[in-house]
Amino acid sequence: MQRPTIFVLNGPNLNLLGQREPEIYGSATLADIGAMLAERADQLGVTVDMRQSNHEGQLVDWLHEAQATGAKAVLLNAGAYTHTSIALLDAIRAISVPVIEVHLSDPATRETFRHHSYVALGAVDQVAGLGPQSYLVALDKAAAL
Ligand code: DQA
Repeated sequence: MQRPTIFVLNGPNLNLLGQREPEIYGSATLADIGAMLAERADQLGVTVDMRQSNHEGQLVDWLHEAQATGAKAVLLNAGAYTHTSIALLDAIRAISVPVIEVHLSDPATRETFRHHSYVALGAVDQVAGLGPQSYLVALDKAAAL
């Protein structure tokens, strides 16, 4: 039988992880996180399909694709779109695939404009503030759904 697929969708500026504000986001690159996830996915018996885009509509299209292709779950680090995007919330609500919100930092302890999350209004769970470990914890949760 085919392994279940878990989409890992990353939003704006996350392509710059490793160089971007390392005092907040750490030194791991997105590729490093992808490698960690692939290893854990193997242990969990799932396949990870990890992507990054700086464009809101692309993230919407990928959420639709998760539904169309029968993905088991989506891990979504929507970056700053977390705090602004009703389109992403609508896409999350439009699909039946469970979405887990992920953040490297803990937006709740940062600037007040990061305290509100549209993604959280549609997501089944959230993992934040653990650096790259946030993705691993979220993957464990997604595999267990
Ligand atoms: C982030 C937190 C967001 O507030 C910020 O805009 C990001 C990264 C995180 O992973 O900590 O781009 O999603």
